[in-house]
Amino acid sequence: MGPLQIKDLLQETPESQSVTLKGWVRTKRESKNAIFIALNDGSTINNIQAVAQPGQFSPELLLTVTTGSCLKITGKLVESQGAGQTVEVQIEDIHVYGTADAELYPLQPKKHSLEFLREIAHLRPRTNTFGAILRIRHTLAFAVHKYFNDRGFFYLHTPIITASDAEGAGEMFRVTTLDLDKLPRTDEGAINFKEDFFGREANLTVSGQLEGELGAMALSKIYTFGPTFRAENSNTTRHLAEFWMIEPEMAFFELEDNMALAEDFVKTIIGYALENCKDDLNFLQNRLTEEEKSKPQNERSIPLLEKLSFVVDNAFEKLTYTEAIEILLQSKPHKEKKFQYPVGWGIDLSSEHERYLVEKHFKKPVILTNYPREIKSFYMKLDDDGKTVRAMDVLFPGIGEIIGGSQREDNYEKLLERVHEVGIDPETIWWYLETRKFGTAPHSGFGLGFERLVLFVTGMSNIRDVIPFPRYPKSAEF
Ligand code: 4AD
Ligand code: MG
Repeated sequence: MGPLQIKDLLQETPESQSVTLKGWVRTKRESKNAIFIALNDGSTINNIQAVAQPGQFSPELLLTVTTGSCLKITGKLVESQGAGQTVEVQIEDIHVYGTADAELYPLQPKKHSLEFLREIAHLRPRTNTFGAILRIRHTLAFAVHKYFNDRGFFYLHTPIITASDAEGAGEMFRVTTLDLDKLPRTDEGAINFKEDFFGREANLTVSGQLEGELGAMALSKIYTFGPTFRAENSNTTRHLAEFWMIEPEMAFFELEDNMALAEDFVKTIIGYALENCKDDLNFLQNRLTEEEKSKPQNERSIPLLEKLSFVVDNAFEKLTYTEAIEILLQSKPHKEKKFQYPVGWGIDLSSEHERYLVEKHFKKPVILTNYPREIKSFYMKLDDDGKTVRAMDVLFPGIGEIIGGSQREDNYEKLLERVHEVGIDPETIWWYLETRKFGTAPHSGFGLGFERLVLFVTGMSNIRDVIPFPRYPKSAEF
């Protein structure tokens, strides 16, 4: 099935056996004695070197073998003469599938800025950096499914189109087939959504949680892993308008079980990437070290692999929101009025506060729990004091919030009271409320932002660089 991948060819014992390579040219170098072509097919960050003799091929053919061109090379796999690789290919034949005009091809073998690469997202997977990121992203996604499958969770496909905005998680993207130039109107002049495709207003989902809970009330342990859409106008390095979220939901889990699962889950999948993405992580680590050379010693971050191992090997710090506020009130930046936003019980922590706790105070991932009810979603279980809810946020260095979750309110009356309090029409989520009427159970869950995890593992600094085709305000080109 297809040619051997370059990843596998590089592992072969060279015995002058015939091999076929297919891939894209990274570089071509001609010297007096030989022509060297470095070929890459994306299966690994490493190129395979193919060597031809001067005069072996016509100048016309060699002119079409340019950086970015796509080739089929047949030849013999031999021990490499040069340093840097163990095997190379003695070329017998070259077939050019497609050349790449050297004048026009934007990816010349030199350093390009990440901003520039975002403008050529159709080609950036061919760079070392994005190849590494995409392979790591795949490995993490695979590890997510493996983690849950190994532990008796079922993958539940929650809907992408939804008629409820019960989450209140942010602005939603509308889904409609109405003709925007000729909108149907009711007698009162409002848009008549009865004539729309679903006979009601519909949007893209901001979370699969509510439907996930329905699944957990039957299968006990489920998870979702799907695209999530938020039309908030946040032009930050941590927000996308389309991102992927992993949401496990478990019957018979209380907040403490939920925290333990979240910690074990992220540690296990990061550990899986450390095991299985060595070449790519090493490449990204060197890239970061190179980038930070211009910074003074004390501003440089710890090497990527060390940072990841640290997270895998050390317990996360666990404390309540109330305790966190105490720490912030005692902190130097608060006393010296260095925080931009005020600190006090009841505030929604801003990222400067979260980062102080994680990066300055504890210097490790932190799980904050028991937030004030006013700043959290209606479905979170009320604590006995009635003031806080059984919420948990996992905060990561350099990222801030990577996971948000909670134990869910399983008492019908209390849940209904919260629904009214936050102004949701109970009619719109009757099906959600019914789970609390028919065989309700204690249950918990959380949501991990997949791109924030990929951001952490790759050490990249902008979330737009860890998803193949990012969606953000004013950008949906590719
Ligand atoms: O904290 P959030 O809004 O929680 C929920 O949606 C719950 N329904 C999860 C649950 O309990 N099942 O989002 C969860 C995570 C955040 O911690 C963050 O990592 C990520 O999703 N996230 C985003 N990632 C990228 N771009 C955005 N605009 C994001 N908004 C949230
Ligand atoms: Mg959150």
